[in-house]
Amino acid sequence: MNIVLMGLPGAGKGTQADKIVEKYDIPHISTGDMFRAAMKNGTELGLKAKSYIDKGALVPDEVTIGIVRERLSQPDCNQGFLLDGFPRTTTQAEALDGILSDLGKKVEYVVNIEVEQEELIKRLTGRRICKVCGSSYHLVFNPPKEEGKCDKDGGELYQRADDNPETVTNRLEVNIKQSQPLLDFYGKKNVLTNINGQQDINDVFADVDALLKGNRN
Ligand code: AP5
Repeated sequence: MNIVLMGLPGAGKGTQADKIVEKYDIPHISTGDMFRAAMKNGTELGLKAKSYIDKGALVPDEVTIGIVRERLSQPDCNQGFLLDGFPRTTTQAEALDGILSDLGKKVEYVVNIEVEQEELIKRLTGRRICKVCGSSYHLVFNPPKEEGKCDKDGGELYQRADDNPETVTNRLEVNIKQSQPLLDFYGKKNVLTNINGQQDINDVFADVDALLKGNRN
């Protein structure tokens, strides 16, 4: 199953991705996570990405496409994959088609999680992440059982550097501009499904799951 998960920052891509990969046993490929790991390790890629991510800008296409090409060529992607946060521009979408065609594959599902902007701002500024496993929480909408600690491993929860109000505004602006052409691109290919992301996390997943099981009305 080859899936692309789309949605503006804070739409719940990471939250739903965790559930999808658990159920369908496919690798979760998040360009945002890959950049954050590179930044943490102080690699050349991380240093390059940091200057864009800190401003809420997109990392240049050639850099992003390169890391996705490499990742999709790995054997664990043979039975399918979930791309989260890629593609984000039509240049990336066209490059993805080329990469997959070289591998004898294609995008089967594009799941676009729709959420209003006002709600996205609340979600991003209230988000907290586990330092150990990367699980995502929200101070109000999805709080951990014990304040400041991950339910799964007790890891300390922190706020992402790009979740401050100023960067959030810029991220939303940049992504809104890029998203419509991308939705048009996949709409024409008849692989796009919009999902209402403004419902309970489990209800969003029920809709996604129904689509992937092929029985959505
Ligand atoms: P990335 O890490 O992909 O961030 P993003 O797209 O901004 O999305 P987020 O991870 O912030 O949000 P999400 O949709 O995963 O929401 P989540 O599930 O956490 O990218 C970061 C940066 O890397 C980019 O700004 C860019 O610079 C760079 N980058 C990445 N990919 C790139 C690319 N392809 N090209 C160029 N640059 C790239 O949920 C958010 C919060 O809401 C959580 O607290 C969660 O608990 C809560 N929540 C989730 N669902 C619900 C719900 N249904 N109801 C209530 N609360 C909910």
